[in-house]
Amino acid sequence: MHTSASSRARRALVPVLTGLLAVAGLTTASGTAEAASTLAGAAAEKGRYFGTAVAAGHLGEAPYVSTLNAEFDSVTPENEMKWDAVEPSRGSFNFANADRIVSHAQSRGMKVRGHTLVWHSQLPSWVGNLSAGDLRTAMNNHINQVMGHWKGKIHSWDVVNEAFQDGSSGARRNSPFQDKLGNGFIEEAFRAARAADPAAKLCYNDYNTDGVNAKSNAVYNMVRDFKARGVPIDCVGFQSHFNSASPVPADYQANLQRFADLGVDVQITELDIEGSGTSQATSYANVVKACLAVTRCTGITVWGITDKYSWRASGTPLLFDSNYNKKPAYTAVLNALGGTSGGGNPGNPGGATCTATYSKQEEWSDRFNGRVTITAGSAAISGWTTTVTVTSPQKIVATWNGSPTWDGSGNVMTMRPNGNGSLAAGASTSFGFTVMKNGSSAAPVIGGCTAS
Ligand code: G3I
Repeated sequence: MHTSASSRARRALVPVLTGLLAVAGLTTASGTAEAASTLAGAAAEKGRYFGTAVAAGHLGEAPYVSTLNAEFDSVTPENEMKWDAVEPSRGSFNFANADRIVSHAQSRGMKVRGHTLVWHSQLPSWVGNLSAGDLRTAMNNHINQVMGHWKGKIHSWDVVNEAFQDGSSGARRNSPFQDKLGNGFIEEAFRAARAADPAAKLCYNDYNTDGVNAKSNAVYNMVRDFKARGVPIDCVGFQSHFNSASPVPADYQANLQRFADLGVDVQITELDIEGSGTSQATSYANVVKACLAVTRCTGITVWGITDKYSWRASGTPLLFDSNYNKKPAYTAVLNALGGTSGGGNPGNPGGATCTATYSKQEEWSDRFNGRVTITAGSAAISGWTTTVTVTSPQKIVATWNGSPTWDGSGNVMTMRPNGNGSLAAGASTSFGFTVMKNGSSAAPVIGGCTAS
């Protein structure tokens, strides 16, 4: 296992060396005798970045940050650079939350992907209420102000996001920009973006464009037209949100390649794959292999670090579980990148895990008691946390064998140990609580168990 300093130094050096050898017409083998043991380190040895979406609100959580710092060399603010976050009212900009992410990335030598400038979603209502003339001015001003604020600090910007419809039409999606400015709005946005920060790569980003289909054909035709007419575009982002209804397409690599052949970079920008175990791991590996097989596929970003904070957490689509343990998908990605696992979990160094299971106890006409059993995984633990959520107007009126804290609504109780935090491997403890029904007998929902 490398020290973080040496692996970061190598991350910085390997692309340079790889580039020099490529210029000299030589090819590299795996780079060094010892394979990298982190996602970013292994990706760097292949000349790629490996990034994640980051939410500013989690930057105070130690295992979140340690996993981010150890495994990733690029970040995309998950929501903090969107129009509603940075310009909630016209001409009034708020960069604070995104600044926290950019500062963190810069202090660690990570790249930043900018996401996103012109998008129909997370768009404040004032934008939709403008006349065409005002909207054009507002769009250009938004691009200038936002790109200007981080000028020189953003590796790639998603200039326009999700501008095409799903389905077989290949048509543009309705939005204030499309409806009032017409088809030319995308081109206008890219031209404004190039002027605002000439160093940033300018990407068009979309979902359901991962295989060859009507939607990706429409994007392809637009990119081909832009390249033919000299409209500035450098990259196309393939979001790559997959699940059983929308699996990794068989022609994923071929689709990436046909875009690359137009003379743009391709980036996998929001990768997540619902599922678990071997099948999830295999799908992840296939995505990585496809990227590595396309020379102009310059990097991969997964849409979050841990399953517990995913936008679709119930689908467990990420590489680390809710306790920051590496999943089989992590190992598959690392191996596909040519790395080998050094073992251990940066966010959970001791491998501590636990489970929380609920059982109903006594019940009366107006209330019932619940018990949650906490069981340590295959390693001893010294602490645990879980949540109990009741359905309003139910109320938890008593607890025992735990130290509770509450959210603002009073419906979510976070329970920590009260002298019963240390458990041997496989050992259990429990806490209890009384729920006043107030007309509802719904069972409480128990959150994941986090061990330390
Ligand atoms: O921060 C507020 C919180 O204060 C409030 O209590 C809570 C109640 O709903 O909402 C919180 O904001 C949510 C925000 O995520 C942060 O968690 C928004 O409601 C929710 O809409 C927002 O969802 C984001 C979604 O984009 C919005 O379209 C997801 O986090 C984000 O992962 C997702 O990302 C998109 C990409 O930008 C574009 N491609 C698709 C991808 C997945 O949908």
